[in-house]
Amino acid sequence: MRKIKIGLFGFGVVGQGIHQVLGRSKNANAEIIGICVRNPDKPRAVAADRSLFTASPDAILDNPEVDLVVEVIDDAAASYDIVRRALLKGIPVVSGNKTMLARHLPELIAIQKENGVALLYDASSCGSIPVIRNLEEYYDNDLLLEVKGILNGSSNYILSRVFDHGADYADALRQAQELGFAESDPSFDIEGYDSLFKLVIITVHALGAYVAPERIFTYGISTIHDSDIRYAREKGVKIKLVAQVVKVSDECFTMFVMPEFVTPDKYIYSVDDEYNGVVIRGECYDRQFMFGKGAGSLPTASSILSDIMARLHDYRYEYKKMNFLQKPDYTTEITLRIYARYSETDVPHILRFDRIYEQYYSDDSNYVIADVSLSELLAKRDRLRSEDVFLANLTRFFQDRDC
Ligand code: HSE
Repeated sequence: MRKIKIGLFGFGVVGQGIHQVLGRSKNANAEIIGICVRNPDKPRAVAADRSLFTASPDAILDNPEVDLVVEVIDDAAASYDIVRRALLKGIPVVSGNKTMLARHLPELIAIQKENGVALLYDASSCGSIPVIRNLEEYYDNDLLLEVKGILNGSSNYILSRVFDHGADYADALRQAQELGFAESDPSFDIEGYDSLFKLVIITVHALGAYVAPERIFTYGISTIHDSDIRYAREKGVKIKLVAQVVKVSDECFTMFVMPEFVTPDKYIYSVDDEYNGVVIRGECYDRQFMFGKGAGSLPTASSILSDIMARLHDYRYEYKKMNFLQKPDYTTEITLRIYARYSETDVPHILRFDRIYEQYYSDDSNYVIADVSLSELLAKRDRLRSEDVFLANLTRFFQDRDC
């Protein structure tokens, strides 16, 4: 079998993990022949041959020996530039950069097609869980109705620490950073954007539809308060940051990211710490559940290794649903039942509720349980991002069929 010669971009948490995983695997017919980093002289925890390092992307992209680019850098703009240039030169790429992929997938899919070159990115969504390739290959039909889950390890780690262990939010966030789960800008994790980008990528392979991130309602956990945790405990539920894409009819689907009150009968109730959990629901097979480490150096690197191995067999995504199935339309005209907790911000006057079920007032905090359309939440999202507001989904809309 041939040996793949890899040009690696990035030698941070994931890049070093790839170096270790490749060293550990006995059948990985792959060798790193160049490593591009911003500062080649920086000391690294994982020892690698110093002669491999360069600060010049061209030294890798113009090296005729390189037959696979593996890109795991942190900067989405630089990642886009490298991936695009490599594909245009006909060099296949494995990437883990969800931010870049979620923003540029339509163009990168077109370039793959025009240049007959592959871009693989299973590591971009849910770390070690093989979500993308499964959606592409096994769920290669129109029975799929919903993909829903915990897609961000850091926010789940924080929620678990705070909820189950009574930890302080700021301490838990710091731990998530120290353990290498969090993004360099952790607001991506806790404000829901990391989950959003993964959801955008997943939807391309689940339903064959691309929806630009700014069109999707996204709400995070940064404003969670003791009173929300108390409320959830009283109701016997956990608060999880959940991303979901759901077919609401044969013609339409919806998608959003927001905290959710999860009841103990749901698979994702037991997904704690940095683990991710993805529930796939479809006609005929009901629900299936995938669980695993969604963040961290070696789990993410193992997913990259799987894509490297797939390239040994010339595997590429065919984007079957995008190319061959009738694509449903994206809609935000659905009703959610939400919990909205607030103090100064007058949420009941900002949001046009369809129906109010419960309202509670006290000196320091108020909440309302009400039905509201997703389009209304999307339209008012900036005003709902105040420090004193927290929203959670009560899963009313999907009550009968919810994962
Ligand atoms: N920051 C991400 C997470 C890393 O916490 O899930 C994996 O994508």
